[in-house]
Amino acid sequence: MDKILILDFGAQYTQLIARRVRELNVLSLVENFDFPFDKIKELGPKGIILSGGPSSVYQPDAPLPDKRIFEAGVPVLGICYGLQVIAHQLGGEVDRSAHQEFGKAMLIVDDSKDLLRNIGDVSKVWMSHADKVTKLPPGFVPIAHTDNSPVAAFKSEQKRIFGVQFHPEVVHTSKGKEILGNFVTGVCGCKTDWEPGNFIEETTREIRSKVGTGKVICAMSGGVDSAVAAVLLQRAIGGQLHAVHIDNGLMRKDESKNVVEYFRKNFDMNLHHVDASETFLKKLRGVTDPEKKRKIIGNTFIEVFERVAHEIKDVEYLAQGTLYPDVIESQSHKGPSAKIKTHHNVGGLPDLMKLKLIEPFRLLFKDEVRQVGRALGISSDIIDRHPFPGPGLAVRILSDVTPEKLEILRQADDIFIDEIRKHGIYTDIWQAFAVLLPVQSVGVMGDERTYEHTIALRAVTSEDGMTADWALIPYELLAKTSNRIINEVRGVNRVVYDISSKPPATIEWE
Ligand code: XMP
Repeated sequence: MDKILILDFGAQYTQLIARRVRELNVLSLVENFDFPFDKIKELGPKGIILSGGPSSVYQPDAPLPDKRIFEAGVPVLGICYGLQVIAHQLGGEVDRSAHQEFGKAMLIVDDSKDLLRNIGDVSKVWMSHADKVTKLPPGFVPIAHTDNSPVAAFKSEQKRIFGVQFHPEVVHTSKGKEILGNFVTGVCGCKTDWEPGNFIEETTREIRSKVGTGKVICAMSGGVDSAVAAVLLQRAIGGQLHAVHIDNGLMRKDESKNVVEYFRKNFDMNLHHVDASETFLKKLRGVTDPEKKRKIIGNTFIEVFERVAHEIKDVEYLAQGTLYPDVIESQSHKGPSAKIKTHHNVGGLPDLMKLKLIEPFRLLFKDEVRQVGRALGISSDIIDRHPFPGPGLAVRILSDVTPEKLEILRQADDIFIDEIRKHGIYTDIWQAFAVLLPVQSVGVMGDERTYEHTIALRAVTSEDGMTADWALIPYELLAKTSNRIINEVRGVNRVVYDISSKPPATIEWE
């Protein structure tokens, strides 16, 4: 497959560049700015994009790529800091600009032959820079300007090197997609063959040749990534796959049953259904600290999973639904951010079990996994499902976990989701759920005083879970949900709606 290599100089938007290229159906890969030149040659990209970044090329420790990339005969596009890198390394000059340029600007095209083809004479672009190019490198000409930047884009036609001072990857740049398309398919001549069908064919072949006649085990929670991974493996190696669904007792109403039935029936999957709920609930008894809950659930999961793997005998491989953003994150030169919550509760599996890893989605973004899942025929109920945390309902009961509380929460949650679906807004919402608060309050039902639990409803919109807004769901939906929960769920006499965004709140309450 043709690929575009993106060298990362620490921009916030590097992953976005990768996604935009993939939306053009061309494979894109992100590596650090200092990715060795011989590795680049080995990879054989059809084009290289230099990302933006927070640095200034004149800083003593400024990140700079190996200069040989400019002589390799592969087209290069520098974005923002990437443009300044090109200017600096090829003999131009970059300086602090008198006017920093942040936000919207109007791009006026001076040369529409290649990179800026078919985008009109004037279009809106999004800028975010303080430095600017004051002298072009030899052989380069400007191809667009703005009021503040005489060189908003430049090129060397002969070397096939281009630079843009603005950010074509963000939606605020109205012709950004066209500009990236002009580079990727026009200048670089990439074939647009990165699509689910090809991915499935190629990955199926790879899995078969890697695994041979070996056995593969795969934990399947019912979430999107593990479900799509299991179906892909099933398709590739049939009965050599042992998918394992562990019911930890912290799933939503009927969830385990439905997941197992669906995959057994529709994909003829070799699926082990392990009901370990008693083990989990026993270990969680009396525990209130959220991080302790996570740790217990994570460790118990490993214990149970190991036992099952042992029973299956001679398992050689472990399949996991690791996604590309995690891979990029773990190789990035940026330091780890502060730990707010421990999210990856099955992280220790491979080391512990000495199994060889199969990670078919190591190069995929979440939306691409969904596309693959749809192409494999998995129903929208699974594919478009809201994310659900590994520790499940345990982190939505803000006190110790008991079977009674789980039952209350399951019913309330089910009613909320049911009403959201009936209103037809399930897929507009990133995540919606109920939380059982450790608060009892006074109410009146009939002529009786009650003193019962409070349910908080949470619904958020988000792109990636990193930031989120509380969802402006209709009052009627809230009214109906509240009414039903109080009438149908024994033990609840009050329902509230959470109107906090992330940050400063997080999506889950624990
Ligand atoms: P927060 O609460 O940090 O959640 O805003 C962001 C996203 O991560 C999910 N989440 C978890 N997922 N194990 C998981 O697998 C966890 O312990 C965990 N905690 C939060 C949360 O549901 C949201 O989608």
